[in-house]
Amino acid sequence: MSHFLVTGGAGFIGSALVRGLLSQGASRVTVVDNLLTGHARNLEGLSGPLDFRQVDIRDYAALAAAMQGAEIVFHEAAIPSVPRSIHEPIPSHDVNVNGTFNVLRAATAVGVRRVIYAASSSAYGDTPVLPKVESMPTNPKSPYAAQKLMGEYYLSCWQGCFGLETISLRYFNVFGPRQDPGSAYSGVLSLFMTAILERRTPTIFGDGETSRDFTYVEDVVGLNLKAAAAPVSACGRVYNAGNGGRITLNEAWAMLQKIEGVSLPPNYGPVRAGDVRDSQSDTALAVEYLKHSPQYTFEQGMRATLEWYRGEWQKSA
Ligand code: UD1
Repeated sequence: MSHFLVTGGAGFIGSALVRGLLSQGASRVTVVDNLLTGHARNLEGLSGPLDFRQVDIRDYAALAAAMQGAEIVFHEAAIPSVPRSIHEPIPSHDVNVNGTFNVLRAATAVGVRRVIYAASSSAYGDTPVLPKVESMPTNPKSPYAAQKLMGEYYLSCWQGCFGLETISLRYFNVFGPRQDPGSAYSGVLSLFMTAILERRTPTIFGDGETSRDFTYVEDVVGLNLKAAAAPVSACGRVYNAGNGGRITLNEAWAMLQKIEGVSLPPNYGPVRAGDVRDSQSDTALAVEYLKHSPQYTFEQGMRATLEWYRGEWQKSA
């Protein structure tokens, strides 16, 4: 198996991918992470040919040095969050746009064969038709969405101009173990799960009928592994990385209350700026070209994730 490099490999999704690569017998996995939103603890307990480099993707020279010898790069490093990109647009742009540009420059400079990129479903914005298909026009509503879409365009140009094989995977609200619930910018399910375990009421922004295609992290890992192994004919494209379903925030909170056997009516607050109303992926293109279909239902992923948070919560109690 190849030598892989994962940017953002100490983050929630990146570290799950590192686990997947090691369990598939990768000959070497280099992790590049500045530990800004990632954590070294996410890689604890892993054994095998793992090489951690505390490098910021904004540092081109250090990034190119870390990338030497890698054949396939998974570019997961980013400053996520729609509201964060509105409150702190400069670092968000620097990492998400300039950092991605550096990853592509470095990849061609050191002879990487393929780059697989964590794009975002936010690129679609509010479209009148669901589910969202890759052929639809994009309509980014936030700096984050525009930055992630810019990355897709750069990958496509890099394949055309420099012969780098590229694949963009538009992630749809990924959740699962190790998603950090520690900030107001954290993914909503991580906030809901820690709230229910602590018997706190969450705040739902809007009327709670906002819907998302919540996608379990192991399905995103599976799709990335398929993208790495896919034939060249599958490259130069953008694929949805979603579950194909659609759950409202009210439904998600109701399911958690039912599982825990408690009644905790949520608080409702104003809709967040840049928020998309409804999101649901069409998964057909990924099935056709990457041969991946989602393996986990929302409830399976949710229950597994809740148990993980429960274990962490009990450890800290
Ligand atoms: C968006 C992208 C997602 C991307 C993520 C990165 C879309 C449809 N999705 O996620 O693909 O991975 O950015 O950050 O654009 N909310 C609450 N209460 C809270 C926190 C959030 O009600 O305490 C609401 C938000 O207002 C939003 C929904 O929950 O309506 C989901 O929010 P969040 O988990 O932050 O993700 P998105 O912004 O949807």
